Amino acid sequence: MTQWIDVAAEADLFEGAGIAVTPEGQDIAVFKLEDGVYAINNLCSHGNAKLCDGFVEGHHVECPFHQALFSLHDGSVSCGPATEPAKTWPVKIEGGRVFLQLA
Ligand code: FES
Repeated sequence: MTQWIDVAAEADLFEGAGIAVTPEGQDIAVFKLEDGVYAINNLCSHGNAKLCDGFVEGHHVECPFHQALFSLHDGSVSCGPATEPAKTWPVKIEGGRVFLQLA
């Protein structure tokens, strides 16, 4: 069964910025872009940096430590030094709330 977890109010999101949410003890960054809302592992795959603090460029987030670029659409790395992709989760907005599918 598909389980959606309520993680935030849609009103908490601002376009071009990320927030950190911690459903079930996981550390996840949620970003609002022009084309939708995306969830990506908050910890950079290269080091101890929080992607929720990163700079948004199009549909990418730039790690605040060494400027690796991750696609918010699928977590892929577009620019190093990171080499490992970041995990992403499906997101849906319903009734003004943001839900993630964690499984
Ligand atoms: Fe993110 Fe190095 S910690 S690029």
